[in-house]
Amino acid sequence: MADSDRLNRVRSGTAVPSHVAVIMDGNGRWASERGFPRHLGHKEGMKSVREVIEGAVEAGIDTLTLFAFSTDNWKRPAQEVSALMGLLRLYVRKECAELRNRGVEVHALGDLDSLDEQTLSAVQEMVERTRGGDVLRLNVMISYGGREELLRATQALADRVRAGELLPEQIDAEELEAALFTRGLSDPDLLIRTSGEYRISNFMLWQLAYTELHISPVYWPDFDREALFEAILDFQRRERRFGCVSVEVNEPQ
Ligand code: FPP
Repeated sequence: MADSDRLNRVRSGTAVPSHVAVIMDGNGRWASERGFPRHLGHKEGMKSVREVIEGAVEAGIDTLTLFAFSTDNWKRPAQEVSALMGLLRLYVRKECAELRNRGVEVHALGDLDSLDEQTLSAVQEMVERTRGGDVLRLNVMISYGGREELLRATQALADRVRAGELLPEQIDAEELEAALFTRGLSDPDLLIRTSGEYRISNFMLWQLAYTELHISPVYWPDFDREALFEAILDFQRRERRFGCVSVEVNEPQ
């Protein structure tokens, strides 16, 4: 099927998801199966990042959230961690101007304090230089873990209770959400995970409560905009009920 064909179907289908989140998985396997070192899989994965950003803009997605580095990824061999940090810096050098021109506003969410100085300043530069972009909001999740995010939020709320700013019974979904990295954002409508794994892997545990899941069999370096459009078409076939009954279901008289 030609490019524009799928995109046209996406555009003429039911609503395009406003917020799409992606677990970019399979870089290591992509590289190993080709006899390459793992870091080359991550490097190749950068091309898919570009593809998916361009595809998201074409499809009319408002917010794209990419899981770039998890809190657990710190446990990988030092060489791989350092290659991933190097790639983040390379990404800023190579893509920042293009992101800005395309109207992509980048936000970096996660425990950024654990980044080395060089990587942190590259990431901050990207955030600052793209500020004001109004075509697509891109959240790059770095040193991010869903459980860690919830613990941090819980501690922040407990501090406010201790300071007398908040009563325990005033803690509701709104207060908790305001203490998450994703404050102010709508929950993802669609989560894509590549490489055929059926896992959430500590990603956006609160925010994914009612998100539709699309598992793609392809490794991240092979994921392109066509695969993104396919995921959106899959999403458009779903019936989202948010725990309620289908709108077509009538109560018996
Ligand atoms: C998971 O594959 C992927 C990662 C841990 C890193 C993702 C990073 C990139 C795609 C490059 C940089 C991204 C940005 C946004 C600039 P894996 O290593 O777990 O693969 P495997 O399961 O096959 O081993």
